[in-house]
Amino acid sequence: MTSPPPERRNEAVLPVEALGITLRRNGRRLLDDVSVLFDGHDFCALMGPNGAGKSLFLRVLANLVTPDEGTVRWNDRLPDRRRAPKLGFAFQKPVTLRRSVRANIRYALAACRIRGAEGRQRTEAALALAGLADLARSPARVLSGGEQQRLAIARALAVEPELLLLDEPTANLDPASTAAIESLLRGAAYGGTKIVLVTHDIGQARRLAETVVFMHAGRITETTAADTFFDAPTSSAAEAFLAGRLVL
Ligand SMILES: Nc1ncnc2c1ncn2[C@@H]1O[C@H](COP(=O)(O)OP(=O)(O)O)[C@@H](O)[C@H]1O
Ligand SMILES: [Mg+2]
Repeated sequence: MTSPPPERRNEAVLPVEALGITLRRNGRRLLDDVSVLFDGHDFCALMGPNGAGKSLFLRVLANLVTPDEGTVRWNDRLPDRRRAPKLGFAFQKPVTLRRSVRANIRYALAACRIRGAEGRQRTEAALALAGLADLARSPARVLSGGEQQRLAIARALAVEPELLLLDEPTANLDPASTAAIESLLRGAAYGGTKIVLVTHDIGQARRLAETVVFMHAGRITETTAADTFFDAPTSSAAEAFLAGRLVL
């Protein structure tokens, strides 16, 4: 295998690594010495009960929150704004801009200096991918929750991130909308996008994940191949969670 050209190596964010991340607020340790390496080889589900620290940890990985201790490294270097577009993010509550569906995607691309024919082509591809071509001219804010989330994910994918971080993207959605999002994510993963998906939906993790990272009370208690995780979790917290006995 030949190594990537220098400019591409420069842009890479993977592997994304957390080393001894601790985050304190009001005297509480919300994240407690968390270390993990996402090399992007597997579709990863980050699981755990409410309040475990999953959302905070995802924000730390994306360099949106600075930890009190520890470091995040993107491809062996500290995070920087220049590479931030290579790390896509979608939130539980989709963030859409007060403009049309199509303009939402074009805006995100323009922010990454992807304009002109390339911008137009990627916009139309993203609309088709998300099944939103017929709604392209509608104001984004009038879409249903599921449609807005499809837009938010398609917009993130249009930028062609190397890694996509998703924070419970289907938590507020009905089964049909959830299935549409899952199929969007499966397609993205198949197309080569690396994904870390925060979910407390056990069925969803079973359907999508190859690796499970389990968090409880601000710590990672295990990182396991998904098959093994669901059959025989190694931490008692994960076992209790899967049995429906773990609430924070
Ligand atoms: N900005 C903040 N200030 C203080 N506490 C916070 C803040 N954000 C989150 N928390 C607390 O940190 C804990 C972990 O939160 P979060 O990462 O949202 O959990 P999860 O996503 O696993 O449900 C919770 O107890 C939450 O109340
Ligand atoms: Mg959360």
